[in-house]
Amino acid sequence: MAQLLPVDEFDLIIFGGTGDLAMRKLLPALFHRDRDQQFTSASRIIAVGRSKFSRKQYLATVEDALHKNLDDDEFDATLWKSFSKRIEYLQIDVSSPKNWDGLTKTLAGHEDRIRVAYLATAPSLFGPIAKGLKANSLINANSRIVLEKPLGRDLASASEINDQVGKCFKENQIYRIDHYLGKETVQNLLALRFANSLFEPLWRRGAVDHVQITVAEDLGVGNRIEFYDRVGALRDMVQNHLMQLVCLTAMEAPASLHHDAVRDEKIKVLRALRPIDADSVRSNTVRGQYTAGAIKSDTVPAYTDELGGDESNTETFVALKVEIDNWRWSNVPFYLRTGKRLKSKHSEIVVQFQDVPHSIFPEQEYNVVPNRLTIRLQPDEGVKLTLMAKEPGPGGFNLRSVSLDLSFEETFDIRYPDAYERLLMEVLRGNPALFMRRDEVDAAWKFIDSIIEGWESTNQKVETYVAGTWGPSGSSSLLDRDGRAWYADD
Ligand code: BG6
Repeated sequence: MAQLLPVDEFDLIIFGGTGDLAMRKLLPALFHRDRDQQFTSASRIIAVGRSKFSRKQYLATVEDALHKNLDDDEFDATLWKSFSKRIEYLQIDVSSPKNWDGLTKTLAGHEDRIRVAYLATAPSLFGPIAKGLKANSLINANSRIVLEKPLGRDLASASEINDQVGKCFKENQIYRIDHYLGKETVQNLLALRFANSLFEPLWRRGAVDHVQITVAEDLGVGNRIEFYDRVGALRDMVQNHLMQLVCLTAMEAPASLHHDAVRDEKIKVLRALRPIDADSVRSNTVRGQYTAGAIKSDTVPAYTDELGGDESNTETFVALKVEIDNWRWSNVPFYLRTGKRLKSKHSEIVVQFQDVPHSIFPEQEYNVVPNRLTIRLQPDEGVKLTLMAKEPGPGGFNLRSVSLDLSFEETFDIRYPDAYERLLMEVLRGNPALFMRRDEVDAAWKFIDSIIEGWESTNQKVETYVAGTWGPSGSSSLLDRDGRAWYADD
């Protein structure tokens, strides 16, 4: 693989610099990229936080976080020495545009550098931080701003944030993160679909029976429960990650890899989603919440116990039947599901092809299973195609379903970078293709808002499921009604 050139000199300001995301994801990702010599020596990381830390104290926290979040053989004391030289820490109360002198001074004289403001803070601070940067004249033509999710909790609040940030930055300077777009296998979906001619003629109604997208987690909500209880799985996972997976699976071939070419095709999918509303919400959606159970033989408490015993109607699991109203996907349902405390961490896209139109192998004697393409996102990333084959041997046909199974780890014997490594580099290089444009966020919220309004107006309650299973029984019924079943439920 060609060695990438270092990115032009930059100042990366991380707002929320002492927070969980910075410590767990951003700083380890930057350390890896530095190790691969992608930063020039003068490039800086300026962490901004509310806490009163000296630079020395902050560096000690970062070093500790790197030890925790990197594999043992990935931490390197010599590199840490040079990496830590890049890092500065500033204490600023970003809720007000006053008293930003520390940042103004630090950035003064470096106007020609790429200047990225990464907002790893609560979304309620996105507007105030953008305003603070503008009021202190810290935005120039080289500036970019990165917004973490959640971007609001509905279309109205997302629009408000986008309006506030939009008053300070141009749309092409705004990078809205969905970390799923930085995952290698998600990107591989584009390679699979558009660098092979094999699948395209079959990637449509007539050949595809239906599509299943599963993003299952075995973890619970952990220490985010207060936040999560106000949000739920539909907003936390479907509005962004699963919607993006639907887009990449269903979109037409873009004319090029140019960011707007790709995003123009994705938005068409979002706009073609058949709305789910009060009339259709019960037949097309399932909400679940975990009760106590066991994950890999460890007992785990119920969601409501984690909440301190309070009742809650927040879904920790959601399944949807989604229809895309266009020529390609007419009558080809996409079934989506995601949840916490499911049996295992496991994400995949399954494209189920139709039965053969006429079987020369009578059903009574042969079990001919239709072809299936499985794109495994995590763990054990890869692609599997199931085909029917004849078992070797005399005495007529013995048919069996077999797999062509490509494991990326075995095929490409290289380390898989974390999604944040790629996304940070894309921001620094100024390529917004893997980030969401405002119209995409709006269209995804519009679809999600209608479901939430439907749930509220029909008073749709959560169904419980035992932690460590594949979700509530309603999830199986959703497919069962259509004569189908979820895969990987073993
Ligand atoms: C985040 C959600 O966006 O994605 C979390 O807020 C979820 O609730 C996480 O756990 C899952 O990401 P990954 O990369 O572990 O699949």
